[in-house]
Amino acid sequence: MSYDLIVIGSGPGGYVCAVKAAQLGLKVAVVEKAPTYGGTCLNIGCIPSKALLHASEMFEEAHHLGRLGIKLPLPALDLPAMLAHKDATVKSNVDGVAFLFRKNKIDGHRGTGSIEAPGKVVVTKEDGSRETLETKAIVIATGSDSTPLPGVAIDEKRIVTSTGALALPRVPKKLVVVGAGVIGLELGSVWRRLGAEVTVVEFLDRILPGMDGEVAKQFQRLLEKQGFVFRLGAKVAAVDSSEPTLKVTVEPAKAGEAEAETLEADVVLVAIGRRPYTEGLGLEAAGVALDERRRVKVDAHYQTNVPGIYAIGDVIAGPMLAHKAEDEGVAVAEILAGKAGHVNYGAIPGVVYTSPEVASVGRTEEELKAAGIDYKVGKFPFSANGRARAMLATDGFVKILSDAQTDRILGGHIVGKGAGEMIHEIVVLMEFMGSAEDLGRSTHAHPTMSESVKEAALAAYQKPIHL
Ligand code: FAD
Ligand code: NAI
Repeated sequence: MSYDLIVIGSGPGGYVCAVKAAQLGLKVAVVEKAPTYGGTCLNIGCIPSKALLHASEMFEEAHHLGRLGIKLPLPALDLPAMLAHKDATVKSNVDGVAFLFRKNKIDGHRGTGSIEAPGKVVVTKEDGSRETLETKAIVIATGSDSTPLPGVAIDEKRIVTSTGALALPRVPKKLVVVGAGVIGLELGSVWRRLGAEVTVVEFLDRILPGMDGEVAKQFQRLLEKQGFVFRLGAKVAAVDSSEPTLKVTVEPAKAGEAEAETLEADVVLVAIGRRPYTEGLGLEAAGVALDERRRVKVDAHYQTNVPGIYAIGDVIAGPMLAHKAEDEGVAVAEILAGKAGHVNYGAIPGVVYTSPEVASVGRTEEELKAAGIDYKVGKFPFSANGRARAMLATDGFVKILSDAQTDRILGGHIVGKGAGEMIHEIVVLMEFMGSAEDLGRSTHAHPTMSESVKEAALAAYQKPIHL
């Protein structure tokens, strides 16, 4: 078989690239080794985690409906039904990708893809048989997998990565999470809401590294109010699994700062980051260069050092986010079709889907300080927003960072209910190089949570009205 493009991997990067390339008239095939399409995101990442985050949030909220004058008997948890909701959500999404492939006449090849040479992809199927496919271009979209913690053996039952944590058959009484990043806080939230005592052990002296420091600090306080316990500046040195209760040895991150302690746990979730996945791809033989963190090296057009071989998504540098992978997929498809594909890395939002949510785009205050940029800060708390009071959602605030000279928006950060939806008006504004005044002068419907975004912009260039 001969194609214009073969994409290896069908995650958000790979499947979106394939669909866009087919829409632009290329003859496209996708090679996927997993039984279903959709990659990490649809099968064991974004989608199942959001199904459980939503269901567990509803479960917790149901306990507090009395505050709104709704009396209910105490809600009971049906965990198998909640997990079945998650599985059904995954199925409908991965089936959706298969539908898109059929609709766009994309050939799906099941098996592990490896690059024999530029223009040649070998597919090794489950039964061991091999098929060689020919193509003008190859896009590597093989994603990432979880980073192992040295000395801690994952069994996906009691010592789990995110994959095991999305399928625990019982609510653990005690859950120890290693890593206060996005996975730790999202999946820690799921199990805390369902009844687990959650302790998070984080190497650094803060949670969510990379997020704006003030936002992370306030968010940590909100999580602590919900019952999260944080051991910051600490690391897990060992997990003893010889008894029914796990014994987790926690040491200070810097040697000699404090005594080691032992935490008991029913489940330990290791969430210390993800690493690019390139196993079995034959990159060495094909001569494709990797960087110092074993990510596939690409140029500004996503081409590797080998002409005709491209890479996108988690397997290359940049934030490991589904929408970043998708936009790179579109860009490379456009480039291959002779158009100008481009991703604006300065305006990629990041969302933590906890309660409240945390959302961010552009630069943080720490980054602006480090770059020596003169900036203004506008902040507005949800406690001063009428809609937030009506919904009992007054936790959190909006923070807008703008250029002190030009008023151009350089960053936006939100902690609050619906932050992950609200962030997009700042994203679009940044895409069009808008200013705080542009945002502050745009009419926002009343009463909405989004009025706080407008008020924070007003605060950045003038004064907010309601504070
Ligand atoms: P992947 O989605 O990892 O897909 C790679 C695919 O390649 C896989 O299907 C794999 O089987 C296949 N593959 C690998 N090697 C081969 C080979 N040799 N031959 C054939 N096939 C191969 N991001 C967000 O933006 N929002 C979220 O809410 C979010 N939640 C997440 C929650 C969890 C628990 C996790 C783990 C991740 C989450 N992410 C989220 C991150 C997101 O899943 C990734 O950024 C995204 O999936 C990357 O897409 P990708 O296409 O680069 O790779
Ligand atoms: P992460 O990089 O977000 O966080 C890992 C945390 O572990 C960091 O705070 C780090 O300092 C800490 N850490 C590292 N080594 C440690 C050690 N030995 N002991 C204690 N702490 C240690 O990684 P995470 O949470 O595993 O997620 C991986 C990626 O998946 C994220 O970076 C994100 O790109 C993606 N993701 C995105 C989501 C979203 O967009 N909502 C949801 C879940 C994952």
